[in-house]
Amino acid sequence: MNIIDLIKNRRSIRRFRQEKLDRDLFVELVETARCAPAGANIQSLEYIIVDEPGVCEKLFDFLAWAGHVKPKRDPAPDQRPVAYIVVISDTEIKKEASVDAAAAIENILLAAASSGVGSCWLGLIKREQIAELLGINEKYKVDSVIALGKPAETPVMEDAKGEDTKYYLDEKDVLHVPKRPLKKILHINKFGS
Ligand SMILES: Cc1cc2nc3c(=O)[nH]c(=O)nc-3n(C[C@H](O)[C@H](O)[C@H](O)COP(=O)(O)O)c2cc1C
Repeated sequence: MNIIDLIKNRRSIRRFRQEKLDRDLFVELVETARCAPAGANIQSLEYIIVDEPGVCEKLFDFLAWAGHVKPKRDPAPDQRPVAYIVVISDTEIKKEASVDAAAAIENILLAAASSGVGSCWLGLIKREQIAELLGINEKYKVDSVIALGKPAETPVMEDAKGEDTKYYLDEKDVLHVPKRPLKKILHINKFGS
C-alpha cells in the first residue's frame, strides 16, 4: 500500500487479536518516532515499550476507551492490546512537547499500520498512576500511551454529515468514524474561497 492510502486507511483500533508480536517490531516503531520532526530539533521524547503481560494488565487499568460509545469499545479481556508504547517527555529538555509527541506518535501509528498492526493513541490516561507503575522519574511528563496489537475490528471512515463528528457503532457493531468533508475545510489562496 502506498503512503497516501496507508494514511487514509489507518483507523484507531480498540479490539485486538491475542497474537504475540515480536519486540523487534516495537523497537522499529520507536525508531520511526525518533525520525519525526521536533521543534528546533530539540528532542525531549523517550519511549517505554510495555510487552510483559503482567505489566500490560496493570497499565490497562489506567486507560479509557472510546468515550462516545462507552462502554461498547472497552476491550474485553480477550481483546486487549498485546503491547503498548508509552511516550514520555523530559521537561528539563523541553517544557512543553505535546506537538513534537504528536508528530512522533503519528509515525508510530502509520508504521504499525504498514506492518498490519493496529493501534490506538490514548490521551485520556491516568498519568500519575502510569508514572508510578513504570517507575518514571519525576522530571518526565507522561504524554500518551499507544496501544498495539493485530486488529480484531475494521472501523470505517466516512464523510461527516453536518457538524456531528462523533464516531458511532452501527447495527453490525462496526465503528464509523466521520471526518469533516474536504469542501468544509479546504481554502485555496484565500480564506472562504
Ligand atoms: C490526542 C488524542 C488523544 C486520544 N485519546 C484517546 C483515548 O484516550 N481513548 C480512545 O479510545 N481513543 C483516543 N484517541 C483516538 C481518537 O478517538 C481517534 O483518533 C478518533 O476517534 C478518530 O478516529 P481514527 O483515529 O480512526 O481516525 C485519541 C486521539 C488523539 C489524537
